[in-house]
Amino acid sequence: MKILVVGGNGTIGRKVVNHLKNKHDVFIAGRSKGDYVVDISDSTSISTMFENIGKVDAIVNIAGDAKWDTFDNLTEEDYYIGVKSKLMGQVNLVRIGQHFLTDNGSITLSTGILADHPVRMTASAAMVNGGIHSFVKAVALELKRGIRLNVVSSGLVEDAVEKYQDYFPGHNAIPMNKVINGYVKSIEGAESGKVIRIYD
Ligand SMILES: NC(=O)c1ccc[n+]([C@@H]2O[C@H](COP(=O)([O-])OP(=O)(O)OC[C@H]3O[C@@H](n4cnc5c(N)ncnc54)[C@H](OP(=O)(O)O)[C@@H]3O)[C@@H](O)[C@H]2O)c1
Repeated sequence: MKILVVGGNGTIGRKVVNHLKNKHDVFIAGRSKGDYVVDISDSTSISTMFENIGKVDAIVNIAGDAKWDTFDNLTEEDYYIGVKSKLMGQVNLVRIGQHFLTDNGSITLSTGILADHPVRMTASAAMVNGGIHSFVKAVALELKRGIRLNVVSSGLVEDAVEKYQDYFPGHNAIPMNKVINGYVKSIEGAESGKVIRIYD
């Protein structure tokens, strides 16, 4: 399969790409580097990326930001960071990307455990994750040409423990091979409209 991985140079992305490369032709898109440069918070940038790459068999997104801060500190503008990036960025990847998928292709998005088990300072991040879960379930009902759509929702991954462990008291870090398998299940499996939860 020809697979586009947006965020393929990130902490999770690079491990997923390394695995997929054993079997597939993988192209990486990222904000600052990659085979293609894209900013998912800008729909024009998404369109340009797809026009450059052409048809693919699978689109995987492992990118997207949201502002972390206390509920008291989060301003309206702070919420729009997550809305523009992790929420609408992924919505626009599906909206635009579906037209660049071969028949029976797939799209896999990324959210995270905060949608179901938020921790402090994640009012915005948890909100956009939850929004994507509902979006995936709804849109999968309408996609045509056998196109499938899923989202991988992982807990704090092993490779990011050092950076985030203080925010996640009592959480078990998720081994990278389990996270990778979530993406493989979505890309190579048959399911659609699923939130693939990897929480332990
Ligand atoms: N780390 C975890 O434990 C964990 C757990 C569950 C879910 N997640 C979610 O999974 C996703 C990836 O996490 P990560 O830890 O791998 O992040 P990361 O290490 O920060 O990597 C993110 C990657 O995405 C790219 N990127 C960021 N914003 C982008 C944008 N607007 N347009 C295009 N590319 C963009 C970055 O490119 P540049 O470096 O060029 O900017 C980078 O390659 C995030 O949405 C995160 O919330 C993470």
